[in-house]
Amino acid sequence: MILEVVGLTKQFGGLVAVDKVSFNVAKSEILGIIGPNGAGKSVLLNTISGFYTPNKGKVVFDGHDITRLKAHQISSLGMGRNFQSSVLFMSQTVSENVFFASHQNYRTPIWERILRVPSAIKEETTLKYRGEGILKNLGLDSVKNEQASNLPYGYQRILGVGIALASNPKLLLLDEPLTGMNQNEIHIMVDIIQTIRDTGVTILLIEHNVSAVMKLCDRIIVLDNGGKIAEGLPKEIYENKKVIDAYLGKA
Ligand SMILES: Nc1ncnc2c1ncn2[C@@H]1O[C@H](COP(=O)(O)OP(=O)(O)OP(=O)(O)O)[C@@H](O)[C@H]1O
Ligand SMILES: [Mg+2]
Repeated sequence: MILEVVGLTKQFGGLVAVDKVSFNVAKSEILGIIGPNGAGKSVLLNTISGFYTPNKGKVVFDGHDITRLKAHQISSLGMGRNFQSSVLFMSQTVSENVFFASHQNYRTPIWERILRVPSAIKEETTLKYRGEGILKNLGLDSVKNEQASNLPYGYQRILGVGIALASNPKLLLLDEPLTGMNQNEIHIMVDIIQTIRDTGVTILLIEHNVSAVMKLCDRIIVLDNGGKIAEGLPKEIYENKKVIDAYLGKA
């Protein structure tokens, strides 16, 4: 198991946004999280990734108890995420955005980098190589010198995934990566998500696009009113009476 979530609860005052949610994610799996608007999907993701501190429960990531860790500490353990709203540097180019994100992961101390000791040069080369690989894999090669603000919306979302990948995550959390995309962009993003998984990255995917979720996910959990109401294979979820009543019937 790369991620174990046990009885996770997040309250905002009297509102229980995430209510005793438990589930596991296996290595290299794509786990989907679906549920109606306001079900608690984003709060769950933000609590796992350390943007919120849980009121109760436990999160174990890759053998580390991360329940009380801050977002940047969790990120440096290998958990990457996109953001529902864009966090791009709009006036920078596509490749500058990716390279800047990967340079935040320098392990070499700054003075060794200034002195350009061999280990620093080696790390810089590795990061540059990784950045170029990301641009290529995401199909951003041909627009890498474009200013981010000039990209169509769908490509900005793809760049957001590129920035998340720059930290070389073991687990990638995606919150509605297909929202606002046209049909063509959806196809591209679905392919990208599959490609990322094929490179061995585990993915936690929140998404309202039911056909994409059914296609991409190995397993799905369903949230309603903060609680987990179902868990299973896509086919099982699609036929689950409780899920149809809470969500699929409306979708
Ligand atoms: N920072 C916050 N402070 C107070 N309440 C919040 C906060 N963030 C979310 N909530 C509330 O928690 C509940 C769950 O919200 P959440 O954003 O997780 O829903 P969601 O399942 O992601 O919905 P959507 O599909 O619309 O994105 C909602 O009632 C929301 O209003
Ligand atoms: Mg949400």
